[in-house]
Amino acid sequence: MEKFEVVVMCGIPGSGKTTFCRERLFPQYLYISLDRLRSRSAEAELFAFALRRRKSCVIDNTNINGHERTRYVPAAKKAGASVVAYWFDPDVRACRARNASRTGRERVPDFVIGTKAARFAPPNKAEGFDDIRKVSIDGDGFKVEEGI
Ligand SMILES: Nc1ncnc2c1ncn2[C@@H]1O[C@H](COP(=O)(O)OP(=O)(O)OP(=O)(O)O)[C@@H](O)[C@H]1O
Ligand SMILES: [Mg+2]
Repeated sequence: MEKFEVVVMCGIPGSGKTTFCRERLFPQYLYISLDRLRSRSAEAELFAFALRRRKSCVIDNTNINGHERTRYVPAAKKAGASVVAYWFDPDVRACRARNASRTGRERVPDFVIGTKAARFAPPNKAEGFDDIRKVSIDGDGFKVEEGI
């Protein structure tokens, strides 16, 4: 059977999620981003489509705690997907610096980084993930650690 995976990105603004999706997950995974879709109902519709058609997809939102992730994990499991989390080091200083170099709509107000970092909880197996991978920025690339 073809691979059917739901990937949940978890990380504060500026941590590198979208860049990682572009470099590592495009074009195999259907890309679902609330930022891009700009509506929860459009997001829910696209996610439901992916689950119904067994299309691997990635949810590129900040998804900073278990509560936010319950929007995706139980439904993905129920649909029979393997559910994988990639979580990004909530390094506030580094994220602020990367955010400062962004322009236009990409750039978020600086305080959001601090408030999201204070609420950030790494993904946990008890939430239902089959695999949890930690991502750090290494030079201008990414380092992925499996199983944490
Ligand atoms: N591995 C990397 N090395 C150097 N710079 C990076 C790396 N990954 C991302 N960046 C830069 O950091 C900034 C933030 O990255 P990105 O947009 O991917 O973050 P994000 O987690 O998607 O943020 P948001 O939650 O606000 O969408 C961008 O300017 C990007 O070019
Ligand atoms: Mg992004």
